Amino acid sequence: MRVLVTGGAGFIGSEYVRQRFDADPAARVTVLDKLTYSGVEANLASVATVPGYTFVRGDICDPDVVDQVMAGQDAVVHFAAESHVDRSIEGAGPFVRTNVLGTQVLLDAALRHGVGRFVQVSTDEVYGSIGEGSWTEDRPLAPNSPYSASKACADLLALAHHRTHGLDVVVTRCTNNYGPYQFPEKVVPLFVTRLLDGKPVPLYGDGRNVRDWLHVSDHCRGIDLVLRGGRAGEVYHIGGGVELSNHKLTGLLLDALGADWDRVEHVPDRKGHDLRYSLDDSKIREELGYVPRTDFTEGLAATVAWYRAHRSWWEPLKERAERLLAHREERVPR
Ligand SMILES: NC(=O)c1ccc[n+]([C@@H]2O[C@H](COP(=O)([O-])OP(=O)(O)OC[C@H]3O[C@@H](n4cnc5c(N)ncnc54)[C@H](O)[C@@H]3O)[C@@H](O)[C@H]2O)c1
Repeated sequence: MRVLVTGGAGFIGSEYVRQRFDADPAARVTVLDKLTYSGVEANLASVATVPGYTFVRGDICDPDVVDQVMAGQDAVVHFAAESHVDRSIEGAGPFVRTNVLGTQVLLDAALRHGVGRFVQVSTDEVYGSIGEGSWTEDRPLAPNSPYSASKACADLLALAHHRTHGLDVVVTRCTNNYGPYQFPEKVVPLFVTRLLDGKPVPLYGDGRNVRDWLHVSDHCRGIDLVLRGGRAGEVYHIGGGVELSNHKLTGLLLDALGADWDRVEHVPDRKGHDLRYSLDDSKIREELGYVPRTDFTEGLAATVAWYRAHRSWWEPLKERAERLLAHREERVPR
């Protein structure tokens, strides 16, 4: 199967590509990635010389590039996105452009080229916030942030291409991922790298917000199960089964790094911060035999160890993130 992976130089996409070649060294994978601030080509260094691997630097919003890379593909696994909620609050433009327009460009090209399957990788955030219980796949979408609204829009476009044009689309929605190679602006790598540097960590509000945690390798196995066995036009949830408040997660990270609560700075809450996300993932478990394999305690310890051992990977990225922040603050005085 020849697979086009968009956003393959990012956190989750690169894990997916590495996993695919681990499972089958003869796999054929083309990565299309713009290498935005969060894309790192070196994340794919371990597969760079594999014969079946091709890397194309390009924008999913560019119909010419997309047309070229789509030719001859059997399937698309679509990760490329602007993915950081805080950035979407500062400016929604890039989110609408990449997440909505980019997805439409890919869907249209997939249809034109007769691609056999399109996997739209999405998020639990499209449902809004839930006080108790868990969402099933038929819950109406009620996104609250510009990021989640743009992902909801992309999901609906993808499903509409199935319904209207018969394109073989499947949508996956997952919970919060953690693991190696995550850009150090998201909570786990942000906190770990700041603690390693002896700096304080910023905890939003009272830390009551609850998320489910999913190891990136389990997420990618779930996506591959859906790619191979999911039913066309369906949505599949992928969860980790470990719900934690941000307060609890912060405590675990402080313990792992041997730091105390005096390193925590309570910062004003994120605007419109959703209190809790929770997915019911019994559909993928029952239909496709998905079970998350990574024990959370072990997975978190291994993730902390990875950041400890890979300072040369994350230090330049933190500088990149800080430069971007300084540039934004110059343009938008607070
Ligand atoms: N990280 C999570 O916990 C999480 C949870 C749920 C869903 N998701 C979804 O998973 C996907 C991957 O997320 P991630 O955490 O790996 O993000 P990431 O920011 O690490 O990676 C995104 C990748 O997409 C690329 N990209 C961005 N805009 C592009 C464009 N216009 N054209 C081509 N490439 C472009 C970037 O260069 C980067 O390599 C996203 O669709 C995201 O919405 C992530």
